[in-house]
Amino acid sequence: RILILDFGSQYTQLIARRVREIGVYCEIYPYDVDASEIQAFAPKAIILAGGPESVTGDDTPRAPQIVFELGVPLLGICYGMQTMAEQFGGQVSTSDHREFGYAEVNLADSCRLFEGIEDHVKEDGTLSLDVWMSHGDKVAVLPEGFTVVATTDSCPIAAMANDEKAYYGVQFHPEVTHTKQGKRILERFVRSIADCDALWTSSNIVDDAIARIREQVGSNKVLLGLSGGVDSSVVAALLHKAIGDQLTCVFVDNGLLRLHEGDQVMAMFAENMGIKVIRANAEQLFLSKLVGVADPEQKRKIIGNTFIEIFDQEATKLTNVKFLAQGTIYPDVIESAGAKTGKAHVIKSHHNVGGLPEDMQFELVEPLRELFKDEVRQLGLELGLPYDMVYRHPFPGPGLGVRILGEVKKEYADTLRKADAIFIEELHRADLYHKVSQAFAVFLPVKSVGVVGDGRRYEYVIALRAVETIDFMTARWAHLPYEFLERVSNRIINEISGISRVTYDISSKPPATIEWE
Ligand code: XMP
Repeated sequence: RILILDFGSQYTQLIARRVREIGVYCEIYPYDVDASEIQAFAPKAIILAGGPESVTGDDTPRAPQIVFELGVPLLGICYGMQTMAEQFGGQVSTSDHREFGYAEVNLADSCRLFEGIEDHVKEDGTLSLDVWMSHGDKVAVLPEGFTVVATTDSCPIAAMANDEKAYYGVQFHPEVTHTKQGKRILERFVRSIADCDALWTSSNIVDDAIARIREQVGSNKVLLGLSGGVDSSVVAALLHKAIGDQLTCVFVDNGLLRLHEGDQVMAMFAENMGIKVIRANAEQLFLSKLVGVADPEQKRKIIGNTFIEIFDQEATKLTNVKFLAQGTIYPDVIESAGAKTGKAHVIKSHHNVGGLPEDMQFELVEPLRELFKDEVRQLGLELGLPYDMVYRHPFPGPGLGVRILGEVKKEYADTLRKADAIFIEELHRADLYHKVSQAFAVFLPVKSVGVVGDGRRYEYVIALRAVETIDFMTARWAHLPYEFLERVSNRIINEISGISRVTYDISSKPPATIEWE
């Protein structure tokens, strides 16, 4: 396994995902983690990742000494390369001019990292690579024992190597897809230089997870809050496979789900898979608590607390449950670890709705704790969950509660459900669903005029939202074809009574968020 030390770059998680795609397990630790933890992890190699600071500044992060004492291969990327150079006696200089974007690097001296890797062969025989650069500082003086293995005009030391020790530094970013040979470079480091086998595959992950769940849980009972989202669904399938009837799921129907969603969850998990699922029909309770509440954050709080109340009620009806399973995934773990050490990038605090009561006397089972979202999806497929469920768009915990602007009413929710179902159905039909990252309808409680027959009627407005995004932190509105939007709009207005107008949201994030509230 590989250790990745994080210096705060937005690309660190991407490095980890690439390494795992190559089939090798890795974890991310903050750069200032205790030496003992690094030793205990016993990495076969270490990647020093990028970071936003400057090695030339006082008090900026350095790699802990233990990294150089373990005798394992090292790969420094961007900041990681710079700190490595500096710690070995080289020099880093700051330039005012930031280099950001594509660059062509010429390979110089040969080294094991770039063996057999090239994009172009130039007329004079020079080999070159197309890479992605994003840096201000650069290594100006090579440390002893290293040779320059790649150069560009603006960055003469674009990569350095010490083959004897298996220490490498690259100024460019092999983890981003813009660097064409990036994955092969990482693969060479991880597989050939660090000598790791590609054992991290979906079927191994399933076997391993099942063995660990059995060991942790023994013959005890486990409770899981099932939402129908990807993470809790995969946990349900995994636990069912591992411990069968020892698992009980509680599914809370809050009345703010999509059309037929509650029935679909029951059909899939209870009927098809034979999992014990208790369905708590709590629509009335949720709606009654939301009467007269228009403030979005207030609505989120009420929905979150009511969820906990209902879940608690159902849980206390069960006896002898020792464990509570949760669909925590690796990015959640990194984010909260980052929050603790102050190295958090962006924290989505309002997304933790649906958390569970703190006073519950359970031990936690979190079988997805080490997995990235794409790995969770692979696992879902491996466990036999349908593709459309595993690749579903995200749906917020408060559900339609934040897609009905202002006060939530059953009548609004019923109307919105129908409009949303038409939009999603048409996206599937036009083969567009998986081309956008998230799509949904929003209910606007304003009345707009429409002419029906001879009369003017004032009715509600539906907004459609579809976005493309990688990380949901920034997003672009999806440029759906006009004919498609026309079809959806016609269907919504003709098939649903009480809607006079459909609009399409053409705001990007930032500044507009993906949800309307
Ligand atoms: P925003 O609206 O912040 O959304 O651009 C980014 C992503 O987060 C989802 N989202 C939520 N998820 N509880 C959740 O579980 C929430 O309160 C919540 N608000 C937004 C949103 O659907 C999008 O995927």
